[in-house]
Amino acid sequence: MSTTNDEIILKIENVNRIYNDGDTETEALSDINLEIKKGEFISIIGASGCGKTTLLRLIAGLDKPQSGDLYLYDEKIKGADPKRGYVFQNGGLYEWLTVEQNIAAGLKARHVYKKEKHRIPNYVEMMGLNGFENVFIHQISGGMAQRVAIARSLINNPEVLLLDEPMGALDNFTRAALQDKILEIKAKKNITMILVTHDIDEALYLSDRIIIMTPRPGKISEIIDVKMNHPRNRNGVDYVELRKKLLEKFHLASEVKEPEYTI
Ligand SMILES: Nc1ncnc2c1ncn2[C@@H]1O[C@H](COP(=O)(O)OP(=O)(O)O)[C@@H](O)[C@H]1O
Ligand SMILES: [Mg+2]
Repeated sequence: MSTTNDEIILKIENVNRIYNDGDTETEALSDINLEIKKGEFISIIGASGCGKTTLLRLIAGLDKPQSGDLYLYDEKIKGADPKRGYVFQNGGLYEWLTVEQNIAAGLKARHVYKKEKHRIPNYVEMMGLNGFENVFIHQISGGMAQRVAIARSLINNPEVLLLDEPMGALDNFTRAALQDKILEIKAKKNITMILVTHDIDEALYLSDRIIIMTPRPGKISEIIDVKMNHPRNRNGVDYVELRKKLLEKFHLASEVKEPEYTI
């Protein structure tokens, strides 16, 4: 069941982002308009180079548009803020620190480490990292590293969690487990989540809405509502039907092999 109400948490108005790289000019985002409701799960899909990461970076406040504005509630987004947590594609963890020290880095970034370090075990527990607190990042698996990266963001109680292909490099089993973990956290904390993924099935399994983008210039071409209750059955009639529709939109229907998840 969706946990959204009608309150708009994020507003993106007429946003344009052009990269000027010497003599090449790339229109990474052109006239993007979008409103996202509190507690919504949004997935963004689209070919490589269509501006997905650029859009997430703008929402995170790590980059600025040439024109247009972004708002969290009614506050203009002007820079990075832990209220908008960002999980990088490669995790962006400190390889030379332990699991616990990486999660602590979230608190240190807000200068509240001493006051709030007692909360770390909750997040270790939540992300299933018990027993690995003192293990170094370079010694753990990719799936576990992504859970550390998510814990590091979550400990700052974000209003919005931005996830840039966090499951791209994981095997199917680990990916499915992390998808369920993300849904569990979302249900518990009602965090608004925006996920960039290249996996249509992942978008379908997780999202309230799927945003399809197209490149050169980066634009939103379509927004698809997914109105199925959770947990979703990957082999359910509605699910399979919508999956087919999505694939057709990508002109991929003819290339479909076996479904990625067979249960
Ligand atoms: N820092 C940058 N400088 C120049 N061009 C960039 C930069 N970042 C991204 N681009 C270009 O902008 C377009 C959108 O990139 P990006 O947002 O990374 O797309 P996606 O995440 O959908 O693959 C691409 O054509 C990319 O090459
Ligand atoms: Mg990207």
